Amino acid sequence: MSDTEVSSENRGQWSSRWGFILAAAGGAVGLGNIWKFPYITGENGGGYFVLMYLVFILLIGLPIMVAEVLVGRTTQKSPAGAFRSMSKAGSPWILAGWLGVLTGFIILSYYSVVAGWALHYTWFSFTQGFTGMDADAIGSAFGTLYADTSTNVFWHLIFMLLTIGVILGGIQRGVERAARILMPVLLLMLLVLLGLAIFSDGFGRALDFVFKPDFSKVTSAGVLEALGHSFFTLSLGMGAMITYGSYLKKKEDLVAASGMITILDTVIALIACMVLFPITFSFGLEPEGGPGLVFVNLPIAFSQLAGGVFWSTLFFALLVLAALTSAISLLEVVVSTVIDEFKWSRPMATLFCGGAITLFGLPSALSGSEDSFFGNGFKDHSAFLFDGETGKNWFDTFDHLASNWLLPIGGLLIALFVSWRVSDNAREEAFKSGSRFARWYWNWLFLLRFIVPIGILSVILHKIGLI
Ligand code: TRP
Repeated sequence: MSDTEVSSENRGQWSSRWGFILAAAGGAVGLGNIWKFPYITGENGGGYFVLMYLVFILLIGLPIMVAEVLVGRTTQKSPAGAFRSMSKAGSPWILAGWLGVLTGFIILSYYSVVAGWALHYTWFSFTQGFTGMDADAIGSAFGTLYADTSTNVFWHLIFMLLTIGVILGGIQRGVERAARILMPVLLLMLLVLLGLAIFSDGFGRALDFVFKPDFSKVTSAGVLEALGHSFFTLSLGMGAMITYGSYLKKKEDLVAASGMITILDTVIALIACMVLFPITFSFGLEPEGGPGLVFVNLPIAFSQLAGGVFWSTLFFALLVLAALTSAISLLEVVVSTVIDEFKWSRPMATLFCGGAITLFGLPSALSGSEDSFFGNGFKDHSAFLFDGETGKNWFDTFDHLASNWLLPIGGLLIALFVSWRVSDNAREEAFKSGSRFARWYWNWLFLLRFIVPIGILSVILHKIGLI
């Protein structure tokens, strides 16, 4: 890994394909895998949702991942500049880059609040621990935190400061290096927990719940959510992978690398489910636990474990770190675009963008409170987005908007751009360069040209009732 500061003039490069894979996987593995995936799987009835998610990952996510990395590696630029340099002067494609910046801005604003919960849980595990608390007490502890606006604001500010500090201090590479050691520790820890889960009473029921599709539970909102989550979890649809790809050397095999990142991310998400649902069923809890799932059900298991204080502190600290490497990738897209497009200095761009995102995240930090306008009050204002049912609070509304709408639309634009706009020669050469999978070129192009757009559009059109 080169130690040069990453800027548009003098870009750093990954030392090897594995350097790239681990850094990109570190950015992709985050709260999406461990917090969000299990809880939305629980809310959407399990098996069929997981199956849809896997189909979307394979047929839509993976081809788009290859497309994003290809654009990044070819142009060596951040998203807006990448679109510009691959299209004609004055072309509107640059707007796709800006859409990505907007999406990253929104996602980081509420991502930080959830990361704040993980920070709070790390602190709580360390200073008090869950030992001796029963399931009810642990459940209501999360409820209290969720509604406690000042604590949420506090940890949100701390997490944003950490994220801004890392980007500002140029210690991103340091953090990514640390993540490269600690991510395997997180995986190891999940495997140990999985080992415990396998011997719990609830394991059989959990297997059925996660892997046996019950098609009576299919809803168009659920299918849209599975599509949106396949983008969210792989960090696709907003240019994060363009940015990572821009640090990749031309001779590296981008297809193999994209495949590895996708496999790592998906395996970790599935393991997280197979840890959480056995615990859920063993303790007679409900799979529809909502956003609190990982913050309630795991501590219940930790409270019964010898050395529970140690395990829960370690687990939540690793979760914070996983969230931090993802948050860095979100902020970096916004900051590097502002640097490249407006020629701001890195410190100024970081402080300005980071500050704005922190402010925009404040309503999310207030969303759990019944009394707050952004909590219950906001539900009246967002009902129109949710088929006229009751609306959601600010936090859930923006999560819904960004992951289920903006990311798939961004992904659709990338797919159309790469498969129809970029010249045949440039695309084919970039795909094949250094790749063991060169013979898959036509399969990939077919997916990108037809299956991806038709898939995304039909899910969206079905959701809005047009087909
Ligand atoms: N993929 C990360 C997660 O699962 C979140 C994330 C990081 C992300 N960068 C992104 C999501 C870019 C969408 C786009 O937690």
